Amino acid sequence: MSDNKLKILIDEKTLVMRIKELADDINKFYGTDDELTIVCVLKGAVMFFCELAKYLKMPIRMEFVGLSSYGEAKKSSGKVSALNLSLPPLEGKNVLVVEDIMDTGLTLNFLLDFMRSNCRAKDVKLAVMFDKKCARKYPLAPDFCAFDVDDKFIVGFGLDYSELYRNLPFIGYYE
Ligand code: IMP
Ligand code: MG
Repeated sequence: MSDNKLKILIDEKTLVMRIKELADDINKFYGTDDELTIVCVLKGAVMFFCELAKYLKMPIRMEFVGLSSYGEAKKSSGKVSALNLSLPPLEGKNVLVVEDIMDTGLTLNFLLDFMRSNCRAKDVKLAVMFDKKCARKYPLAPDFCAFDVDDKFIVGFGLDYSELYRNLPFIGYYE
């Protein structure tokens, strides 16, 4: 992938405006009084997580897990590597898992299974920046989603290709 063929799919202004709107939906859904634990799925969700968190109005706890399913390729490896799954006790807490993109659904299915068996949260919901519905293999849908995306490989705003391009402030793709 060379930089001269990178096309912009969603520019920075559109991206940030839509994430703010999504934060408003989340504020409306949960209300602003009770605390919410937001769990960032590293590394891809890092930019989305920080941008979203800026506009959430309830008391927020931030937690981070590390999962990997893509390896070096552009297709899911079909296996999830748990790099870090250490979470504090979440009994009785409302939890919002924040992920960059739901593709086959493997990664989030794995994380939800883990949380169901180990964390005993009051409620767990999912917020994703992108929903690649056409690639879904697990019966899972996000509760909050910023954008639907076709089955193309996108980079930027946290999303990588072989660990590069995460720092781009927009979403791009290669033709
Ligand atoms: P899933 O487990 O198949 O749902 O894949 C989810 C993970 O694959 C995401 O957390 C991303 O890290 C990665 N991924 C899926 N699609 C893309 C893409 O278009 N660009 C970059 N990473 C992607
Ligand atoms: Mg990811």
